Amino acid sequence: MATPLPSSVLVVGAGGREHTLVRALLASPARPRVICAPGNAGIAQDAPCFPVAADEVAGLVVLAQRERVDFVVVGPEVPLALGLADQLLAAGIPVYGPKAAGARLEASKIFTKEILLKYRIPTAAAGIFAAEAPALTYLRSHPAPIVIKADGLAAGKGVVVAQTDVEAAAAVREMFAGKFGASSSKILIEDCLVGEETSILVVVSGRDYVILPTSQDHKRIGDGDTGPNTGGMGTYSPAEVVTPELLRRIEDEIVRPSVNAIADEGLDYCGTLFIGIMLTPAGPSVIEYNARFGDPETQVVLPRLDSDLLELLWRAARRELAGFQLKVKPIHALCVVIAAKGYPEKFPKGDVITLPPGIPGLVTIYHAGTARNDAGDLVTNGGRVLGVTALGATLRDAARDAYAVCDAISCASKYFRRDIGAKQLNRSR
Ligand code: AMP
Ligand code: GLY
Repeated sequence: MATPLPSSVLVVGAGGREHTLVRALLASPARPRVICAPGNAGIAQDAPCFPVAADEVAGLVVLAQRERVDFVVVGPEVPLALGLADQLLAAGIPVYGPKAAGARLEASKIFTKEILLKYRIPTAAAGIFAAEAPALTYLRSHPAPIVIKADGLAAGKGVVVAQTDVEAAAAVREMFAGKFGASSSKILIEDCLVGEETSILVVVSGRDYVILPTSQDHKRIGDGDTGPNTGGMGTYSPAEVVTPELLRRIEDEIVRPSVNAIADEGLDYCGTLFIGIMLTPAGPSVIEYNARFGDPETQVVLPRLDSDLLELLWRAARRELAGFQLKVKPIHALCVVIAAKGYPEKFPKGDVITLPPGIPGLVTIYHAGTARNDAGDLVTNGGRVLGVTALGATLRDAARDAYAVCDAISCASKYFRRDIGAKQLNRSR
């Protein structure tokens, strides 16, 4: 007999991912009370928000106890790496999200590379370095294109795909000069993989897992995949480049071996395992693991679920995931991220945002970096500001509806990519 579903849930985080999680949990037939910390202006319209930052681990445990929640769903990686799940479990509160030992899969790229190599899971060959001189020597025998990665967390910015030897050496020097503080005191130098990327999100509970619908992110800031990497500028689902056949191969060669490797390493993992995969001509290859839902992948994957998200995450947390049959809507979803111009470098905050009065029923505006100013206006409060998700019978329908809403949003610093989904749309033309 399965444990009854929780009646009250705390979602930790403040981005578009968390807004999507809050909406999906509120849609559960179990009608749970959903609260969020710290949330944002959009989440606050849907659920009570509490001003405890996502990295204030002790404060979050106190909040969970005070509000008597019986389940916590953690969005971002930082609190997980800081041991939020460990502390909640110690306080007897079930949590969806791995303990610090499991979050290391995201917090240390070297830790992950060693596991991938040990268990022979396909990934790029790499050298590991703790000092500049040997790293520069290695570069001499490994010409560009080559990839330089800070070991630790760097808000998605710790990876340089160097196109020239000069760029590669500069990246190595910058990292050892402390560009990302302790996060770049050790680095990886990795062979450059070529192909299309896909994000596979897997709900993991020990050795049991459920693969969520496929999606593809657009990481670069500019149209045509140009400019610096960002946290993600837009997504669509399904990613048809992952054919059913290829998905089976990914499950056999990557997903199942990864879940088992993580269990064999004693990480006792419960949470989302986000596997970033490069679809190379030689086959799928792991770029990275993240220990959480992707943002903005979540904004297209969750709206396509026909299953109760609360039940899925709860059963994962209770180690009752075996036999869960995921139901997915046979529709397309596309999300365009509206950022503040200047992101991912410097960008203004506090610009007033005006949302269009009526939006079509199949479009949802998820809030990321938004807040209210003293006058009560909705204003920008981060690099990525909104995620506009549209559902459609075809990807083209979804793109049309999402972009119509993007065009109708007004904000002085509004910036978004015009080509989300273009690769797939051009393929199917
Ligand atoms: P990560 O932070 O590991 O996800 O890396 C950020 C982005 O850098 C990835 O999404 C890829 O676009 C790119 N990248 C990372 N590793 C490689 C690699 N070995 N070859 C080519 N591109 C890579
Ligand atoms: N969309 C990429 C990430 O969440 O890291």
